[in-house]
Amino acid sequence: MYKLNLDIQSFLANDWQQAPKVYKGAFPEFADPIAADELAGLACEDEVSSRVVVTKGEDWDVISGPFEDYDQFGEQGWQLLVQAVNHWYPDAQPLVEAFRFLPDWRFDDLMVSFATPKGGVGPHIDNYDVFIIQGEGHRRWTVGPKGSYSRRGGNPTSMLIEDFEPIIDVVLEKGDVLYIPPGFPHQGETLTLALSYSMGFRAPSQQELAGQIADQLMDEDKGHKRFIAAEGAASKGLVSVAEQQGIMQLIRELCDDSDTVAKLLGKLLSQNRFDLDIQEDESMDEAELQAALDEGALLSRIGGLKVLRMEGDSEPRLFIAGEGYVIAGATDEELSQVANDVTVSADIALQPHWQRFFADMLKKGYFYLAEA
Ligand code: SIN
Ligand code: CO
Repeated sequence: MYKLNLDIQSFLANDWQQAPKVYKGAFPEFADPIAADELAGLACEDEVSSRVVVTKGEDWDVISGPFEDYDQFGEQGWQLLVQAVNHWYPDAQPLVEAFRFLPDWRFDDLMVSFATPKGGVGPHIDNYDVFIIQGEGHRRWTVGPKGSYSRRGGNPTSMLIEDFEPIIDVVLEKGDVLYIPPGFPHQGETLTLALSYSMGFRAPSQQELAGQIADQLMDEDKGHKRFIAAEGAASKGLVSVAEQQGIMQLIRELCDDSDTVAKLLGKLLSQNRFDLDIQEDESMDEAELQAALDEGALLSRIGGLKVLRMEGDSEPRLFIAGEGYVIAGATDEELSQVANDVTVSADIALQPHWQRFFADMLKKGYFYLAEA
């Protein structure tokens, strides 16, 4: 278990999404949830998203995984970064739990990095909130003020920015946490062999929202309404302001319909950016599920799976991995337990209306049965 030693109320009121901050000793007696060789092993897998960044003086080369061996990179000046480790490595979940004071819909993934001395990814800006937790080793971090920064070397395709003037300059040691909101330039530089953990949080962009609206209307064959003018056309080559507003009002109408919004956001926010570790061999019928639970097995969701409820939803519904599931007969209390807890109590799972749902979840590979 990881206990984050942080005044959460004060953090949410003063820092969250606003200001970068260093929390020394935020995890007293921090123990790395994964070893460097296990991380290197994960990065051998095709389904796992990984990269190695090699420091080249004032520049950085990115090589995409999977990787078979690391000898080519030498003793120093490189860093391995593996995304969504929480999807593939269940022992990482307790560290994720320490950050569940923020809602699951915002959580992106746990990225784990193994860095050699002088390794780093270069100065950059993220669109995400990130908590960087230092495990084994020491890394120096600098964070600059929010602002507009030119792309490194004037290259518009570079992910890197020019050097910045730091407002934070700190060496992180085991158990220290650095919080960086979106938009603040930052750079990590490795002093000794180091493992670090980036807990990333994001909210959907307007592009993602607009894409989801379009997908959903097409899936449901809805959204055929068109603009009807209150007055005739005024001028040959002109679209009047009233017409512009009237046409865009069609989108606003969609946003005012609470059922459309619940479905739209439930589907969008329960999706993951990275592959899930779908368990393919767990198909069982309701009677077999009952027998397994009776024998004490635990029904557990796979790492990173988002199980969300929408407040005010007109249906007893959960949104999971981009789909809505109505569980007829489920109570509010049951729905919130299943949405909040990564393992499901047998009391709930054995109720007839839930049994069918969980048999379906096992078949889909979103839940699995684990030893108690
Ligand atoms: C790193 O660990 O160097 C990359 C993490 C980040 O900058 O967000
Ligand atoms: Co970053």
